[in-house]
Amino acid sequence: MTAPGLSGVSETMLWSLHNRACEARRHDGILDDPRTISIHDAITYDYHHHFGTPGGTLAARAAQIDNALRHWLTKNPDGLIVSLGEGLETQASRVDNGRMRWLSVDLPQAISLREQFITPTSRFTHLAASALTPDWMDRADPAAGICVIAQGLLMYFQPSHVQNLFCAIASRFPGANMIFDTVPEWFSRLTLAGLQQTPHYRLPPMPWGIDQHVIEKTLKTWHPGLAKVEFLSYRAPRGLHRYVADMIEGLPVFRHQVPCLVRVEV
Ligand SMILES: C[S@@+](CC[C@H](N)C(=O)[O-])C[C@H]1O[C@@H](n2cnc3c(N)ncnc32)[C@H](O)[C@@H]1O
Repeated sequence: MTAPGLSGVSETMLWSLHNRACEARRHDGILDDPRTISIHDAITYDYHHHFGTPGGTLAARAAQIDNALRHWLTKNPDGLIVSLGEGLETQASRVDNGRMRWLSVDLPQAISLREQFITPTSRFTHLAASALTPDWMDRADPAAGICVIAQGLLMYFQPSHVQNLFCAIASRFPGANMIFDTVPEWFSRLTLAGLQQTPHYRLPPMPWGIDQHVIEKTLKTWHPGLAKVEFLSYRAPRGLHRYVADMIEGLPVFRHQVPCLVRVEV
């Protein structure tokens, strides 16, 4: 058993792990991922105390990214997928086509925990570095196609850092795909005010909040090289979370103020 010893944003990798593992354990779950269950079991951490009972939204987000990656791999079977802030995600094994390459990038303490469970191989490599430094770009060979994903990461950065990262990727890797998620402005503001996920866990601040209807315009202002911006829909699979998500979708005032999953072609 491993005691993770994580804090700040890095601790949030246990929140998304918990979501995926609880979903993967269900007989009607939308995620088939025994590896996630074994990592979840092997870590000594009171997930329910900290994060509560997951509604499945983060598992749905992961499953939707899986779908987008599988589709991308049909066109780029030998391509490179770079996962920024990958934490304990096991997405590479969920979508592996036997040929693709994968680079996991995360901070040193996160990579060191990851390597207790996931050993890098010649196709699946790890880099202990900040996504905000160019180190990972120097390691990434885009010759057979490159797709950069940032799942549950960009909201933790300052807006100017997101912009710089986005522009660096777009300039350095023409033809790249990017997939990332966003939180709306109202949610960002709540986290800056100290929003508690449960009485025992305060979410780290999420300084980058953006509403859906301004995402495309903002990205195109940041970089002129964008060919396409698309929203990938994901919802909690069932229960109260699903009911609330469906209700919000029907309300014109609120429907743009929800978390989004965005796919961009440069
Ligand atoms: C919410 S977790 C998401 C983990 C994973 N993508 C998932 O969905 O399960 C946020 C991750 O971002 C990582 N992170 C935070 N700041 C980072 C940075 N500057 N560069 C790379 N990773 C970072 C954390 O260590 C953590 O693993």
